[in-house]
Amino acid sequence: MEKIVVTGGTKLKGEVTIGGAKNSATAILPATILMSGKCTLENVPNISDIKIICNILESLGAKIDWIEQNKLTIDTSNISSSNAPLDKTSKFRASYYLVGALLGKYHSAEVGLPGGCNLGARPIDQHIKGFEALGATVEVEQGKISAKAKKLVGNSIYLDVVSVGATINLMLASVLAEGTTIIDNPAKEPHIVDVANFLNSVGADIRGAGTDSIKINGVKELKKEGTYSIVPDQIEAGTFMLSAVASKGDITIKNCITKHLESLTAKIVEMGANVEDIDGETIRVWCNSRPNKLNIKTLPHPGFPTDLQPQMGVVLSTANGTSIINESIWESRFQYTAELNKMGAKITAQGKTAVFEGVKKLYGSPVYSTDLRAGAALIIAAIAAEGTTEIYNLEYIDRGYENIEEKFRKLGANIKRVKE
Ligand code: EPU
Repeated sequence: MEKIVVTGGTKLKGEVTIGGAKNSATAILPATILMSGKCTLENVPNISDIKIICNILESLGAKIDWIEQNKLTIDTSNISSSNAPLDKTSKFRASYYLVGALLGKYHSAEVGLPGGCNLGARPIDQHIKGFEALGATVEVEQGKISAKAKKLVGNSIYLDVVSVGATINLMLASVLAEGTTIIDNPAKEPHIVDVANFLNSVGADIRGAGTDSIKINGVKELKKEGTYSIVPDQIEAGTFMLSAVASKGDITIKNCITKHLESLTAKIVEMGANVEDIDGETIRVWCNSRPNKLNIKTLPHPGFPTDLQPQMGVVLSTANGTSIINESIWESRFQYTAELNKMGAKITAQGKTAVFEGVKKLYGSPVYSTDLRAGAALIIAAIAAEGTTEIYNLEYIDRGYENIEEKFRKLGANIKRVKE
């Protein structure tokens, strides 16, 4: 078993470069199925979630070569099956994108019901409603989702809840459908726009991604070749921004899109810390004093992202005064608060609300990651805390952050990964 050991008390200082977005890459890789061709992808995060999706695509017949640490080629021209290995897909949330891509391309898909981080109920009713509107028959039984269609025909689909997964999945399923599909009330996250940009770069006709309505004019086929660079990871950038505030440090974050970070930037400024947008792709965050209390509600983009809620929770646990976070996306995203309380925080979480009574200091303790972002939050807490913290359950952190301890070490943190 591995653990991360951090001796805290460092003010993080220096520069860090952000990688490609996990939640974009996990969709663009399955999207290449629609091409039946060869694609070069750059700025691909080399993280375990990507290795899993690559492995699943290889079992379907794709050929994948990593040519550099963050660059790969994928050839989907010999995909021979639309049945994804159930044991692998059921451990992985984004495997649901295989349904949209395989259904869109082969009019048939069988995929294990998606797993992933335990954040509470993760329904896929909006995905299913959309596939059915396009003419597919969908069955969910015995731990798998099967979708079939004689042909797919464009339709108007209104999403009852704003869903990243359903929006992307319906784009995938409708790119090659007959006629026009309209997705109303779609998600607008940067990775939605990135997936649309990728698909358009290989011949799709998608308009309006990032707005309240997406229009997909079906095309007969996509190009057989393409090259695309994945958008920078907004959540990784936000994680480092919040680590600068929590440690009272000064970090310059490179290769990010500052426009994607506006909801976080506004909150950091409200807390009394400093943010400088250097050139739209580089942002500096520094903090000299104890942050002010504040209240947050997580919302779909452009609201405050749920995937930065635990990292913000760490900052609020030592803020001056009492703060409230309302989590409106995932019902079980406050599990990390019990771990922070072990470090001396005073947080009361009930249902979708948590109250953070700011304490002066956190103290080192053994703690357990309860999901991916909780794990990142615990690292930040450990860096800001007095004493030594041991963080367990690293498999969650490795799902979404590449070289996280090396990046923090370069900023001055006393952090190492050790085998027990
Ligand atoms: N929802 C439904 N029905 C559906 C789909 C979603 O009710 O058919 C609900 C969910 O229960 C949730 C809300 O809608 O309350 C939003 O869910 P969404 O579909 O947007 O989430 P997702 O696609 O499953 C992705 C990211 C998550 C991120 C959310 C929200 C991937 C692989 N996962 O999940 O990322 O929290 O969007 O932005 O893209 C993470 O990276 O740590 C992570 C959990």
